[in-house]
Amino acid sequence: MESQKKQRVLSAIQPTSVPTLGNYIGALRNWKKMSTDYDCAYAVADLHAITVRQDPKELKRQSMQMFAILMAIGLDPEKSVVFVQSHVETHTQLAWLLNCYTQFGEAARMTQFKEKSQKHADNINVGLFAYPVLMAADILLYQPHYVPIGADQKQHLEIARNIAERFNGIYGNTFTLPEPFIGEVGARVMSLQDPTRKMSKSDANPKASVSILDTPDMIVKKFKSAVTDSDSFVRYAEDKAGINNLMSIFSACTGQSYEQIEADFSGKGYGDFKLAVAEAVIEELRPLQAGFDHLMKDGAYLKQCAQFGAQKARKISQRTLDKCMKKIGFWIV
Ligand code: TYM
Repeated sequence: MESQKKQRVLSAIQPTSVPTLGNYIGALRNWKKMSTDYDCAYAVADLHAITVRQDPKELKRQSMQMFAILMAIGLDPEKSVVFVQSHVETHTQLAWLLNCYTQFGEAARMTQFKEKSQKHADNINVGLFAYPVLMAADILLYQPHYVPIGADQKQHLEIARNIAERFNGIYGNTFTLPEPFIGEVGARVMSLQDPTRKMSKSDANPKASVSILDTPDMIVKKFKSAVTDSDSFVRYAEDKAGINNLMSIFSACTGQSYEQIEADFSGKGYGDFKLAVAEAVIEELRPLQAGFDHLMKDGAYLKQCAQFGAQKARKISQRTLDKCMKKIGFWIV
């Protein structure tokens, strides 16, 4: 009974590479935090991944790996619904329906579509264009109140809300209008080599991003070479993008406020601070990395958990899909 009163949460992550510290601080950590107070559904968004060409063997390996990471961050498959998007066919079914309630112009305005079209100019496929509609289906199927995401996905959540509002306007209340949940610190973790750009899995420079499975040595090296400025004071200021980024990572990992950090590091140089940030990150990731190594040795268990998650996801999402199809007027036999 208790769990029926809880509000719902849904989010997803693409499996295309090991998550960065940005994915972790901006999203995954909040997923775990929210899983105690909300009814949560979390997916590995493998269907979204194929909007860009993927090596078949790698896609399979990375999807399983991402599922293991979700378990390793401490999500309990009994309490939350943890699943792989392609295992639950309702997602592609609702996506088609919603395509017909999405305007060409509103999809064309998506910043990520514009960026990815430039980056993959030889493969601007229809899937890349319809990507936010599939994401809207992922969300709306579970009727969530909140969607924990990093700042870069806010525009996609807005289009999901617009599609839901349009559908509700035509057919009456069908979808819950979801709110983004964006953490106060770490909503946009920046590249360590160019702190004006977000930290991204696809960055060509390996020193620009920290992967959550990097070894302690790699983490120390990457933070040591992080780009800062010619000043030497650890303080949060408009013209100090590199230091601001390091402070926000440190604050997210230790819970310390910017004032506290400034006081603790006053009189110390950037070298000391960079090392402290690296150590805080290593400590934050230690339990996750241990759990991950353990889980990856048990493929049968992972498969069983993925099947269990898909079953639960199918049950919840089918209810929304049926409701939607009835309202549109399909002949259901
Ligand atoms: P994806 O896989 O790119 O990223 C997963 C989550 O990580 C957040 N994130 C960041 N947060 C802070 N700083 C950064 N540098 C950073 N980089 C990434 C993202 O905002 C995201 O929350 N389209 C989505 C996946 C998706 C989805 C969904 C999300 C598919 N269906 C339904 C929410 C609901 C994506 O590509 O995220």
